[in-house]
Amino acid sequence: MTLILGVETSCDETAAAVVADGRLMLSNVVASQIELHRQYGGVFPEMASRQHVLAIMPVVEQALRDADIGWEQVDALAVTRGPGLAGSLLVGVNAAKGMAWARGLPLAPINHLEGHVYSNWIEAEGNRPDKRFPLLVLIVSGGHTELIAMHGHGQYERMGGTIDDAAGEAFDKVARLLGLGYPGGPAIQKAAMHGDPAAFALPRARPRGPYDFSFSGLKTAVLRKVQKVEGDESERRKLTPGRGLPEAFIADMAASFQQAVVDVLVDKTLAAADAIEATEICVCGGVSANLVLRRVFRERSSKPVSIPPLYLCTDNAAMIAAAAYYRFQAQETTALDFDVAANLSLSQHPFPVSNIKHI
Ligand code: KG4
Ligand code: ZN
Repeated sequence: MTLILGVETSCDETAAAVVADGRLMLSNVVASQIELHRQYGGVFPEMASRQHVLAIMPVVEQALRDADIGWEQVDALAVTRGPGLAGSLLVGVNAAKGMAWARGLPLAPINHLEGHVYSNWIEAEGNRPDKRFPLLVLIVSGGHTELIAMHGHGQYERMGGTIDDAAGEAFDKVARLLGLGYPGGPAIQKAAMHGDPAAFALPRARPRGPYDFSFSGLKTAVLRKVQKVEGDESERRKLTPGRGLPEAFIADMAASFQQAVVDVLVDKTLAAADAIEATEICVCGGVSANLVLRRVFRERSSKPVSIPPLYLCTDNAAMIAAAAYYRFQAQETTALDFDVAANLSLSQHPFPVSNIKHI
């Protein structure tokens, strides 16, 4: 059994986890900074880095304690190298390098997006760990919306993605327009529960690429409707002074917006899965925690759909440790002189090229 300790600090969660053989999660600790950033309406990068500095070692120690293991049982380390906020990434990468050096353990730098992909391999409810390639992967997070044909471990072919905002970004921006808090995804989902998804006819953009997405027009359409309510004399009279937008409007708009995003994500993903004759669809990233998205995928797909449990959809370190297992399986390791890569893409090897060593 190979035990990997994963570390993740790419954005606003300080996380560490221990995973056995890329599948069995022995611990998964996430220290969220949501409360800290809520007052700014989004992630404040320098505050995020400083909070990671404070939290990283207690979180690592907790991950070992929860797994009920000591350092001598850890076989290797893994850390997110990018994409993400450079200052946040640096904290995790430096901490992981220090631990690897002190303990004489190999360290795998991991692409955060590859981590999200491998959240589907962890044994947990909603996942289907025994997989046959090719797989169709939809990554939907705060920074990314991508459709990937996965032909083998570490083999990704990008079929399309967003040409403007990521789906999670659209949730966050629309939540702000509606006066709902941060993070926007869960806030919209909650408000939408009391709304009518057919109340507003919002656009379903069809960009030229068959597997591309566009969400900025949708966001603008919501903005126009909000401005109309706020600016229109007859509409404004319906508002309670000082209370902002009417609750019924917020609920209907949240539900209509959520439905529009879900419709395009599911439609294009199913079409892409058919095009590559995928054996299965794997959905991952923060937006895959959305309950309507999860339900609609299962209703509309004739292929099996793997969607991790909610705690593995949003950022965590178990997914980083799981992804690292397959990098080590491929006999790959690297020296400790690698930098963070804030814009790392899935098509790039997560290790600095000159440093790849075969063990
Ligand atoms: O993967 P993630 O935790 O961080 C990134 O790598 O970006 O994704 C965060 C994104 C945020 O935009 C957040 O609003 C969205 O995931 N999100 C959701 C839900 N939970 C989180 N979006 C829609 N519905 C949700 N329930
Ligand atoms: Zn993420």
